[in-house]
Amino acid sequence: MSALHADYYADQLVQHESVLIENVCIAEATYRLRVAAPGIAATAVPGQFVMIRLAGVDAPLIGRALAIYDVVPDASGQPTFIDLVYLKKGVFTTACAESPLGTKVSLWGPLGNGFTPRPCDHLIMAVGGIGQTPMLLLGREASGSQSFGRPNGWAKNVELIYGARRQSLLAGVPDFRDAGFQVQLCTDDGSEGQLALVPDVLAVRLDEIDSDAVVRVVTCGPEIMMEKVAEVCRERGVDCQVSMETPMACGIGICFSCVAKVQQDDGEWDYKRTCVEGPIFDAEKIVW
Ligand SMILES: Cc1cc2nc3c(=O)[nH]c(=O)nc-3n(C[C@H](O)[C@H](O)[C@H](O)COP(=O)(O)OP(=O)(O)OC[C@H]3O[C@@H](n4cnc5c(N)ncnc54)[C@H](O)[C@@H]3O)c2cc1C
Ligand code: FES
Repeated sequence: MSALHADYYADQLVQHESVLIENVCIAEATYRLRVAAPGIAATAVPGQFVMIRLAGVDAPLIGRALAIYDVVPDASGQPTFIDLVYLKKGVFTTACAESPLGTKVSLWGPLGNGFTPRPCDHLIMAVGGIGQTPMLLLGREASGSQSFGRPNGWAKNVELIYGARRQSLLAGVPDFRDAGFQVQLCTDDGSEGQLALVPDVLAVRLDEIDSDAVVRVVTCGPEIMMEKVAEVCRERGVDCQVSMETPMACGIGICFSCVAKVQQDDGEWDYKRTCVEGPIFDAEKIVW
């Protein structure tokens, strides 16, 4: 195995002690929180995440990774607040969902590499479960309505294919519609949109698009879904980036709890830390 090497060293990292100024239920078991974090809001790029923990609380002791869902300006237009969207699942998210406004949180970021902007005719964001969270900012950057200190407006058309087990779990759909993206929904029980799985909806959509068009896919969600999305893309020669959500302890490259198997240029695989060398990887490189 070759030596582990980080392309990204969390060099923009700042820590904020902040309080919850919003913590609202936006779908079944799904909440959107807002905190003031100007040092993170000013430098984050789409696909990056923060580590967050409830201040002064022993369980959980370590932070949790949450994708930066939105960056919100203050009254003077300065990027000041960040929004995070989380599914109530285990220790942290349950405690957070039950926390009143004013609860102190500690967060550090922005972390990770972010998506690589790649000019295209169609950007298709294929997501499942809670995997929509890194996509709102990416779609806005791609369509040119928001910029993050790097090229924007690099996609002519931005689409979201979003699947969940049932209608009540679909979270944030109005945000994506308001941003002007074409939205296709699907559910496992047909309670909203198509009764279909995300990779199957994606396959149909890719086959409809003119073969001369440059199409790029980004995906986030359950690993089995991302693997199938990657397969659909590989079969059609379509570029695909994945956002890996391996459990993380430190978020800054120290503990190696977050590794994924990633293929090297020599064809061998190596462990890469998702927190510093990811969470975004070319789908082709992931050894599922
Ligand atoms: C880069 C990145 C971005 C992420 N972005 C988001 C995001 O935007 N939104 C989001 O909701 N999540 C996101 N996650 C996942 C997030 O970091 C947490 O893992 C998730 O929120 C669960 O945290 P928790 O403390 O609530 O659950 P935990 O308590 O850590 O539990 C995690 C899972 O283990 C199970 N579990 C816990 N204890 C036990 C036990 N004793 N026995 C059996 N099972 C158990 C729980 O039921 C749960 O399914 C992201 C992860 C990464 C790496
Ligand atoms: S979470 Fe510690 S090295 Fe990645």
